[in-house]
Amino acid sequence: MSRLVVVSNRLADPRRPAAGGLAVALGEALNRTGGLWFGWSGNVNEEQQPGEAHLQTRQAGRVTLATVDLAPEDHAAYYQGYANSVLWPVFHYRLDLADFHGAYLDGYRRVNRMFAAKLLPLLRDEDVIWVHDYHLIPLATELRALGCRQRIGFFLHIPVPPPLILAALPQHDWLMRAFFAYDLVGLQSEADVAHFRRYMLNEAQAEDLGDGRLAAFSRETRVGAFPIGIDVQEFERLGRAADAVQTCEALRQEYSRRKLLLGIDRLDYSKGIPQRVRAFRELLEKYPENRHSATLIMIASPSRDDVLAYADLRQELEGLCGGINGDYGDLDWMPLRYIHRIVARRRVPGLCRAVRVGLVTPLRDGMNLVAKEYVVSQDPQDPGVLVLSRFAGAAEQLKDALLVNPYDTEGMADAIQTALHMPLEERQARHRALMETICTHDIHWWRKSFLDALHAPAPEAQAQPPA
Ligand code: G6P
Repeated sequence: MSRLVVVSNRLADPRRPAAGGLAVALGEALNRTGGLWFGWSGNVNEEQQPGEAHLQTRQAGRVTLATVDLAPEDHAAYYQGYANSVLWPVFHYRLDLADFHGAYLDGYRRVNRMFAAKLLPLLRDEDVIWVHDYHLIPLATELRALGCRQRIGFFLHIPVPPPLILAALPQHDWLMRAFFAYDLVGLQSEADVAHFRRYMLNEAQAEDLGDGRLAAFSRETRVGAFPIGIDVQEFERLGRAADAVQTCEALRQEYSRRKLLLGIDRLDYSKGIPQRVRAFRELLEKYPENRHSATLIMIASPSRDDVLAYADLRQELEGLCGGINGDYGDLDWMPLRYIHRIVARRRVPGLCRAVRVGLVTPLRDGMNLVAKEYVVSQDPQDPGVLVLSRFAGAAEQLKDALLVNPYDTEGMADAIQTALHMPLEERQARHRALMETICTHDIHWWRKSFLDALHAPAPEAQAQPPA
């Protein structure tokens, strides 16, 4: 039996329980199989020199956690810089927010090289390695350069933009070539696969070998869509536990005469949070019957606040939220409750269950697991309605949600109005259909289908990095 080795920048961190979909999903996937999880500890170590790190390991159940701290320069150039000020905006179609800086790329390469050097001695011959997300695209190239011959798969949790957006990256050819060091590349949606393939065929002159296989740079890789899911049973269990039940009951009591709407996100410009507030404002303006009766709870957990674009967003949002409450609020009703803090994960299912409308309206999102968690939290007899951006990866699967264009303020207000007044039978039918998709394509399906594809026979041993 091969051992599973997962590598990701962020590991599940009990201090940051609502950190984002990746850490939660991987924690749940690895718990099932056991194995090794390697990545950044989350700490910045002032004593460390750039490119250096000391490995720490500990056991958490069946999973061995192996982590390294980052030197301040590496944290700035690799994490805040290339990963979150270049790749994140570009892959979310936001060239306007990208900050192309030579030193960022140096830091990104340095940390990927350091990760490879620290990981290599921990590897066994029979291991299968699964690398995650945009922080670590060149990791397999670095591992192959050190002689690593094991199967290596890569999963990208964020979207892939069209080729001409990728081509705006000053080093796009270097970056995209690095995908060929993997045996399998998993993406979230068919739209992402189409963009990726088009880039490789047109910009990298790759050869299409059929069946998702592409050849270029003297190597071959396979690409496919593996939409990530949630651990439905685990989330349902969380929903039955005391914290969730109490959260739900407390909200229902407090808002017994009102309808609640909910948004839960990291405070990120890709999530369309200001656009959502504007749509809610439009709802109150265009459909005044909702004044005094609808309340939007918006939880935006702090994220990457050292990156300038995030600080700007926070300011914009505070202005918008203050404006709507000032203009429409009354002594006995405030339209919006904005919370810029982490809400404990164990309360999330209760929160979702208490609200009539779940608003998941990103401008771009790889998948968005909150959309799936919202659906699973509902009471099937009296379910709430999911309003979902057509630009979230989840929209390819969740066709029975109310799909919206988050740039269309009026259209979104109309959809929220429809959701608030949707008859019970339609809510039940949509919920049933959504549950069916979410349960069939859960986290276990995702892990298994990716790993089965990674284990499938490769055409030949491919130990060399892309030429
Ligand atoms: C997204 C990314 C993850 C990341 C998470 C939280 O889900 O795909 O790779 O871990 O955001 O962001 P952070 O920068 O705090 O790790």
